[in-house]
Amino acid sequence: MESKKSSLASSTPNISPSAQGLTQFQGFWIPTLIAPISSIISFQKYFQALDEDIIVASKPKAGTTWLKALVFTIVNRHSYKLSNTPLNSANPHQLISHFEIKFYKENLNPDLSKIPSPRLFSTHLPYPMLADSIKRSNCRIVYITRNPFDIVVSSWHFIKGVHNLPDWPLEDCFEMFCRGEESYGPFWEHALGYWNMSMEKPSNILFMRYEELKEDPVAQTKRLAEFLGFPFSIEEEKTGVVNQIIDFCSFNHLKELEVNKTGKMPRSIIPSNKLFFRSGKVGDYINYLSPTAVELLSNVLKEKLSESSLTFN
Ligand code: A3P
Repeated sequence: MESKKSSLASSTPNISPSAQGLTQFQGFWIPTLIAPISSIISFQKYFQALDEDIIVASKPKAGTTWLKALVFTIVNRHSYKLSNTPLNSANPHQLISHFEIKFYKENLNPDLSKIPSPRLFSTHLPYPMLADSIKRSNCRIVYITRNPFDIVVSSWHFIKGVHNLPDWPLEDCFEMFCRGEESYGPFWEHALGYWNMSMEKPSNILFMRYEELKEDPVAQTKRLAEFLGFPFSIEEEKTGVVNQIIDFCSFNHLKELEVNKTGKMPRSIIPSNKLFFRSGKVGDYINYLSPTAVELLSNVLKEKLSESSLTFN
């Protein structure tokens, strides 16, 4: 595979899964520097879901930050105006935190009972690894996915930034992705778990796509609000509330907020919030992956998803 934009040093040694902290656990590759196995086990053991809970689920680089901003704004729109929403001074990941990266990493059995309802949580864990109480409850899960070609390129940039690996070859990242050896991968298993459950329990699991949100943000934001149990009123639609929320949560707006330009989350290994905002485009992979690489990953997906109705363009 050749990469198009970057001049990649072929002599750069590969970084192995273990050097990234990737460890296989319950059938998936977990980035244990970010999400220790102990925190996942505690989450699975102790988390008690409530029917009102809302959980944002995704694989990294699928649009998590965007979806968190939208969910937070939709749910809290009667408490905060856009001019004074906490999103003006906090990164979306601080307002909707991950079970395995924050709550159960900082405390193996945190008291989450005082969080006001609806409690907003997030996770990068695949569906089979969720706490049983979530699967038994009536809570809502919103899952976002994205075309895997853009995910590979986005992940490559992100991992280089987080682990300070400016010379890491895209080829390594790409090959690992195709083998399923990447954060919370395999990608296809991750997406399939939520896809299948969204068919089985459509009122509990909403399956969203980054590209659809880009293409028709109004329809997708209304769909999201409806699913969350916070639908827009006719009055809100008439007065432009939907578009105001979309504009506020847009890439260009969030990226320019000081907290996302220069901020850093406390106790996080992510060196800067700005790493969550790169180009925010659909199809940027075309500038990085050769046609051969695209064909290779397409074939992997075709094979892995052959028995399912899930497809990626
Ligand atoms: P790119 O690297 O392709 O630009 P995640 O939030 O799951 O980590 O995903 C990060 C990807 O979403 C990055 O993609 C980032 O630029 C993009 N992104 C972040 N905020 C966004 C927003 N508000 N709208 C659209 N894309 C956004």
